[in-house]
Amino acid sequence: MNIHEKYHLKSNNPQYLKMLYYCEKAAKSNSNILLIGESGAGKEVAAKYIHYCSQRKDSPLVSVNCSSYTESLLESELFGYEEGAFTGALKSKKGIIETADKGTLFLDEIGDLSLLTQIKLLRTIENKKIQHIGSNVKHDVDFRLITATNIDLADAVTNHKFREDFFYRISTIVIRVPSLRERKEDLEDLIDYMLKESQKEHDIEVTGMCDEAKDFLMNYSYPGNIRELKNLIDRMVVLSDKGMITRDGLPIMHSVKATNHTSNHFHFNEIIPMKKYKTQSEIKYLTWVLNQFNGNISDTAKALEVSTRYVQYKVKEFKL
Ligand SMILES: Nc1ncnc2c1ncn2[C@@H]1O[C@H](COP(=O)(O)OP(=O)(O)OP(=O)(O)O)[C@@H](O)[C@H]1O
Ligand SMILES: [Mg+2]
Repeated sequence: MNIHEKYHLKSNNPQYLKMLYYCEKAAKSNSNILLIGESGAGKEVAAKYIHYCSQRKDSPLVSVNCSSYTESLLESELFGYEEGAFTGALKSKKGIIETADKGTLFLDEIGDLSLLTQIKLLRTIENKKIQHIGSNVKHDVDFRLITATNIDLADAVTNHKFREDFFYRISTIVIRVPSLRERKEDLEDLIDYMLKESQKEHDIEVTGMCDEAKDFLMNYSYPGNIRELKNLIDRMVVLSDKGMITRDGLPIMHSVKATNHTSNHFHFNEIIPMKKYKTQSEIKYLTWVLNQFNGNISDTAKALEVSTRYVQYKVKEFKL
């Protein structure tokens, strides 16, 4: 699918337009690119756009979230391993880095990388060679590295949590993805876009929206950026009644303030199979909890006492 069909890359905001322009320019080079910006602002979307604009676009773009793995698991996933390299390595396995050969490797939440993994990656970037864990053989590998973070890496360098040499190596080009708060000019278009997408996704038709919901969407501060907007709109669409988005679709915290109601309400208006009901409730609840944590998966997992992997899986499955 064309990237312009998949994402809304039109903008009237000077900063976002500048960001898209930098992505297009940087895509033409082979430089390592560091994407900075708040959580949910669209750093991964920017990485996809860079890949799409580059000569590598017909090769894979492989994304890894560094915070989803323990240190040793991340290393074995990234570099691959030989049979018997460690307990549990029953068969040799190719590393993620090799699967990005000729393409782009996108490492999200790079600030969570351990100092040791940073050294190993630095070596791989400098030598363009990769070595499976438990092997002496080096393979050539050719990839462009895009990294992303929502923390201040320079600060992390000062605090010795991040290696200076690695930081300079990955940040040849730094591109900042603006927050949604900075993109007032785009808000209305983005709301329309998300409404259309959400109706398609949930197979629900929406014909109108009450003024309170409209007001809320236009004036909210979106600490969770586009991800939060998407979650809010999904919630509103799922909870819409006879085609109307009502105040029931507003986030709980807001409706508590607006209506002074103190509890969560269940509204039943049609009889559906139990399985569908369970899925729908799970989507609604997970969307709500994710919202409470600005889309942060590990905080959500902690609060729900489930694994990060489980939440990630559900987010993917339900496209939250
Ligand atoms: N331009 C866009 N058009 C459509 N959807 C977008 C756009 N930018 C971001 N999104 C959506 O917003 C959500 C968050 O985007 P993305 O994952 O790129 O953010 P992020 O900055 O990488 O967040 P994090 O810091 O949490 O990793 C995704 O669901 C993504 O599809
Ligand atoms: Mg991301």
